[in-house]
Amino acid sequence: MIHSTAILDYQPEQSAAFGRKTHRAWLPVRLGGNVSVGPFAVVFAGVTIGDDTLVGIHAIVREDVVIGKSCIIGANCYISYGVTIGDNVRINEGVNVTGNTVIGSGTFIGPHVSMANDRHIDVVNYVYRHTMIKPPVIGRNVVIGTGAILLPGVKIGDGAVIAAGAIVTKDVPGGMTVMGIPARLRVQL
Ligand SMILES: CC(C)(COP(=O)(O)OP(=O)(O)OC[C@H]1O[C@@H](n2cnc3c(N)ncnc32)[C@H](O)[C@@H]1OP(=O)(O)O)[C@@H](O)C(=O)NCCC(=O)NCCS
Repeated sequence: MIHSTAILDYQPEQSAAFGRKTHRAWLPVRLGGNVSVGPFAVVFAGVTIGDDTLVGIHAIVREDVVIGKSCIIGANCYISYGVTIGDNVRINEGVNVTGNTVIGSGTFIGPHVSMANDRHIDVVNYVYRHTMIKPPVIGRNVVIGTGAILLPGVKIGDGAVIAAGAIVTKDVPGGMTVMGIPARLRVQL
């Protein structure tokens, strides 16, 4: 079901102001069976979406994103360029998934989680280089609590839990819980 106000195959904009250039020929969106795209959602060209996945109201899915089967991309999510999402992933409302992030199957991302892929925030002297981009890599069956922030390049192991509001600055081993700012391993007493 594609809502009448949803936009598919949106071509990435070009602007001299952009550091990252994206000009090339784009493939059309590829949708599996029983996919839903909600009102005012924008799915860019070159996106692939698996069977039974739902893209919620006002979500934006940028170019070259691959989304697996039976996922939910919540309302107002921003899924940036080149993100790869496994099967059965739940991304709640208002999540910012930064460019080239990898998310393993079965992972749950709470509302308003945000991610960064570039430590360089100097606008005046900024020159985009692909090699500077270090997205988070999120394993399978990870749980990320609401409002958590993942900084560039962090690797979250399978089955880890990120507490609500945590700022993750370092890798998190599989099966462990981290919380706080900066996120620290939870000590089990
Ligand atoms: C991390 C979490 C899973 C721990 O749950 P829990 O095992 O039941 O832990 P408790 O509530 O018993 O809290 C244990 C301790 O951690 C602290 N704590 C709990 N959550 C915390 C958080 N997000 N950040 C910092 N400290 C936290 C508690 O204050 C408590 O501290 P104390 O021992 O000094 O009193 C849970 O608090 C959490 O953040 N869940 C995410 C919820 C969420 O975002 N859901 C999204 C869908 S709506």
